[in-house]
Amino acid sequence: METANPRQSFPSFVSAKKGLKYLFFGGKGGVGKTALAGATAYYLSEMLGKKTLISSTNPVHSLSSLFGQDLWKKGTRKIEGTKNLYADEIDISSTIERYKGEIKDRLVQFLKFADIPVDVEPFIEIATTNPSFEESAMFDDMVDLILSGQYDAYVFDTAPVAHTYRLLGMSKVYNLWLNKMIKSRQESMSLRTKLSFRKEKIIQELKKDPLLISLAGTKKKTEEAREILTDSEKTAFFFVTLPLALPIAVIERFITWVQAFQIPIGGVIVNEVIPKIDLEKLSPYVAHRMEEQAGYLRLAEQKFPGMIRAVLPLYEREVNGLDMVSRMAQSLSLGSESRI
Ligand SMILES: Nc1ncnc2c1ncn2[C@@H]1O[C@H](COP(=O)(O)OP(=O)(O)OP(=O)(O)O)[C@@H](O)[C@H]1O
Ligand SMILES: [Mg+2]
Repeated sequence: METANPRQSFPSFVSAKKGLKYLFFGGKGGVGKTALAGATAYYLSEMLGKKTLISSTNPVHSLSSLFGQDLWKKGTRKIEGTKNLYADEIDISSTIERYKGEIKDRLVQFLKFADIPVDVEPFIEIATTNPSFEESAMFDDMVDLILSGQYDAYVFDTAPVAHTYRLLGMSKVYNLWLNKMIKSRQESMSLRTKLSFRKEKIIQELKKDPLLISLAGTKKKTEEAREILTDSEKTAFFFVTLPLALPIAVIERFITWVQAFQIPIGGVIVNEVIPKIDLEKLSPYVAHRMEEQAGYLRLAEQKFPGMIRAVLPLYEREVNGLDMVSRMAQSLSLGSESRI
């Protein structure tokens, strides 16, 4: 957690972290994660000149609608009207199919090796119909992107808080499990080696063993992802909230989780604060909402001391199209001063 400078604004946080490369936005549904990810990506790419990739695995085509350009299933492409901003709106259904295929291959290999003559389909059904399967596939995709390393900065429009939390919590167990699998696989291979007269051939076979290679690959990937996701020089998770009770409570819980696993917290962004305008001219309705927001802003400051990086205004329209994204990026570049 950043505590060195309790009043550090978003732009000074970013400029102080020279190696910052992976930025995530978490928070309750509808608080502006996608809009802020877009504004941040715009800030990094167009205002700081970093080659930036914004990526989303959100099935509702959120990036296409944010930028007003068709990005759906188009792979990685440059956002028209920008110099350094690329987007990848990932189609999770193909990821899920690929993921199912990989699981099937492993099961088939495992059952073949264990000499169990059963139909694999029911096993695949069990493995792929659990509720977190879709999220796992998405998380896997995100890890692939992170590890590809072609951009100066990566912005993800949804922080996989629950996943990262699980990944880090599970990684010890996962490592033990994988090590055990690899070891027993090696041992049984050596047993076959011992029993065989063609020792050389079996050693070659062991090196080419697809299950072993695949397991070792997963283990390596998990470790690399874990290293990046816990590196406070490279990674920052930002938590977006509105000046309201529920979204504040949601990010409070997220922050407790991620702190427990040393996931680096970039800070909190309070979005959609009604700009200060002449109170005389306001209807009692709006004046009351503003008072309420001011109370929740104070609550956010108490709950997240020194962590609020920006307070952004509620614009008179939705954040759609490059003009609005760039306007939000301007607000972001002003940090907490933007709403005044
Ligand atoms: N500061 C703002 N002023 C005006 N409208 C905003 C602001 N921030 C976000 N919006 C609008 O609020 C809506 C929700 O924002 P957004 O889609 O970014 O939220 P989200 O957290 O990504 O939602 P989800 O959880 O569904 O992915 C959008 O219509 C967006 O344009
Ligand atoms: Mg979104």
